[in-house]
Amino acid sequence: MNRTFSSDVIVALDFKNLEETLAFLALFRSHDQLYLKVGMELYLQNGPQVLSALKERGHRIFLDLKLHDIPNTVYGASKGLAQYKVDMLNFHAAGGKEMLEAAKQGLLDGGSPETLAIAVTQLTSTSQEQIQAEQLIPVDLVTSVRHYAQLTKEAGLDGVVASVHEAPVIREACGRDFAIVTPGIRLVGGPSQDQKRIATPEVARQLGSSHIVVGRPITLASDPVSVYEAICQSFLK
Ligand code: C5P
Repeated sequence: MNRTFSSDVIVALDFKNLEETLAFLALFRSHDQLYLKVGMELYLQNGPQVLSALKERGHRIFLDLKLHDIPNTVYGASKGLAQYKVDMLNFHAAGGKEMLEAAKQGLLDGGSPETLAIAVTQLTSTSQEQIQAEQLIPVDLVTSVRHYAQLTKEAGLDGVVASVHEAPVIREACGRDFAIVTPGIRLVGGPSQDQKRIATPEVARQLGSSHIVVGRPITLASDPVSVYEAICQSFLK
């Protein structure tokens, strides 16, 4: 059975270490329950202590490790990670249905049924040209994303990571109780950096994202707290 969830803004903590992370979070004194994304840069260099440090401060965590390996290995990783009781953990849908089922089972067997298990469809930095020239995928990007989303749902996971632009198609194919987590969020007039399939928080809300993941537009801002608050206001209103 899929978990329940409510819409949220997730801040991507793409920092090198805990010290930089905590210095950034110190700016958010008036926000004690942020939803934070810990990705491979922070986790692989600093380990699980990052998770406990954030949890101790009352924050929620999306652990973005994009696990992708044979089913048995992903099962073991997922079962082991279950002990940290993160709110969301993700896997690559390209690993296949059996791997996705093993991923979910690992969380259940590890004692964390409440963790949302999410699959990455196509990265938001991936373009239509790339999936054709580099992955030799003959269908268009939206069809590929929709297919991965359906596969994810059939495997019993709780949602997907995809760009805002595929959210309507995913919502139609997978229904209301399916999380659509969208990175690639940019503010009007801001730089797109390496992201290709981008949208504003307002468009993300209109097109059906349940969660948005925002990194550099907040972390590199001169006033991160006001940018975060403005994003929450336009996404959650
Ligand atoms: O700085 P920016 O807002 O581009 O950060 C987006 C975050 O979301 C990064 O941490 C990136 O790793 C992550 N992400 C993504 N595309 C995906 C999955 C995760 O950009 N499909």
